[in-house]
Amino acid sequence: RRRVLVAVDGPSGSGKSSVSREVARRSGLAYLDTGAMYRAACWAALRDGVDVTDPVAAAVVARAVTLDLSTDPDHERVAVDGVDVTAGPDGIRGERVTSAVSAFAAHPGVREELRARQRDVMDAAPDGCIAEGRDITTVVAPDADVRVLLTADADARVERRRAQVVESGSGDAVEVVDVRAGVVGRDAADSRVTSFLSAADGVVTLDSSALTFEQTVQAVLRLVREVQ
Ligand code: C5P
Repeated sequence: RRRVLVAVDGPSGSGKSSVSREVARRSGLAYLDTGAMYRAACWAALRDGVDVTDPVAAAVVARAVTLDLSTDPDHERVAVDGVDVTAGPDGIRGERVTSAVSAFAAHPGVREELRARQRDVMDAAPDGCIAEGRDITTVVAPDADVRVLLTADADARVERRRAQVVESGSGDAVEVVDVRAGVVGRDAADSRVTSFLSAADGVVTLDSSALTFEQTVQAVLRLVREVQ
């Protein structure tokens, strides 16, 4: 098997995390959730009482924080300065971080720091890595062996995000209207900073609206096996 790098981008609720994790599992790759990295650094900013809209203060936090993200697809764990923030209402997928992360992630100083860390994680994976986010196919790893834009229509994404919130125990804000506002609002904010609504040159678009989870995993796996 050849060492391969796989880049997956997509909007909120497109299923890119669960699909990428499963592809990593089945193809022996490390898994990097770059959204979890932005969330974890944002968690540190909120812990420190930093104004997440302040570009200088946000970048200082991003550079100083110690992040520990498991790249084992069978073991999700995110720690910030030694504190496990993987789950729960006060964790990285809770409402507090979710509503602040887009503003935090918009600052060039934050992005420069976290992109460098993401490239380090990818480079350190002996058998290769699948990294997933908003700017992986375009900025973090534009030379990846496989580049996929995973999309889905808004209804499908809202339903997936709602199920995810319930399942992760991150909160009980599972009213569909709230989830829709969150998903649509965050995509609008994020798309002003990163380009994930249309595929860049050489990036394969995979619309999962009418596909099952398994069909989506198979479609990405086929692309990986062509190069692995
Ligand atoms: O993927 P997830 O929804 O967990 O990402 C959380 C946030 O992190 C996004 O809303 C976006 O603001 C930011 N992000 C980013 N670039 C990435 C991944 C995530 O700006 N590559």
